[in-house]
Amino acid sequence: MTNFDALTYAGNRDNLLDVEGDDRYAFERADIADAEAVGRVMAKGFDVVVNFAAESHVDRSLYDPARFVRTNVLGAQNLLEAARSQGVPRFVQISTDEVYGSLGPEGKFTETTPLAPSSPYSATKAAGDLLALAFFKTFGFPVIVTRSSNNYGPYQFPEKLIPLCISNAMEGKNLPVYGDGMNVRDWLFVEDNCEAILAIAEKGRVGEVYNVGGGCEVPNIELIKAMLREMNKPESLITFVTDRPGHDRRYALDSSKLTRELGWSPRVGISEGLRRTVEWFSQNRGWLERVRSGAYRDFYEQHYGRKL
Ligand code: DAU
Repeated sequence: MTNFDALTYAGNRDNLLDVEGDDRYAFERADIADAEAVGRVMAKGFDVVVNFAAESHVDRSLYDPARFVRTNVLGAQNLLEAARSQGVPRFVQISTDEVYGSLGPEGKFTETTPLAPSSPYSATKAAGDLLALAFFKTFGFPVIVTRSSNNYGPYQFPEKLIPLCISNAMEGKNLPVYGDGMNVRDWLFVEDNCEAILAIAEKGRVGEVYNVGGGCEVPNIELIKAMLREMNKPESLITFVTDRPGHDRRYALDSSKLTRELGWSPRVGISEGLRRTVEWFSQNRGWLERVRSGAYRDFYEQHYGRKL
């Protein structure tokens, strides 16, 4: 297995220390926007390529859309092209429920809901997603697309809502809630998403899209209050701040296709998932401090005696 990663601000080899020594695992530090590097590594030959690589944070895409186009569109194109020319037998493109845009209070997104992305982030993810499907339709290249809801769990970079709030609450800092706090997300524990991706990579039908939803819809403010209760921290830490421009109101996924075809359904509900996530961050304060300070790069060097 080869892990191809540019190690941008959120990338961290500290997260994979447990597999670093395994001779079935190789690491390549390179950028998917670099077609030459992608072609060189792809020439090793693979049974399956999974494109997890992305600029993923909506707020950052408001300030630097070009970076998102580069990684999420050009990068996806480079991987698709290189994999196709090497005859890779299966390619999984990790997309997102944000490609569907925003829902009203009722209903759910299905795989046939028209795409209507709101942010530069989701527009570039929609482009990568559609490019992948076009490679199937035009070239017969065996692509499968997953569109998942909001992931959370151990090791998540502390710019996303849940790890940001846990880490701020630990330090007694305010928790910034955008707008009225009534935006709804459908929370998916990371291990459930991993199981879905594995099932799709092994048994999914090529040319298809699969929604992967956690089935746990919660308004942000309720989620944050539940987190504070889990951590025994006061609600006075909550601070309402200016809303995110173009902020999608609600996401909810219908994942019945994945359940019907591959027997997948999420195992971890939001209470258990939050408890496990809070517990992990409490037990890994060193990791959090290193990530927040950027010092994990030094940690790696000390640990391995070489630079990242
Ligand atoms: O739905 C899947 C998507 O989930 C992924 O495609 C994205 O890569 C991922 O970043 C995530 O997007 P969101 O914008 O939903 O996630 P985020 O954690 O940034 O925000 C979750 C909700 O919390 C959203 O309604 C905005 C709100 N929020 C977020 C932050 C960072 C706040 O109220 N305060 C905050 O400080």
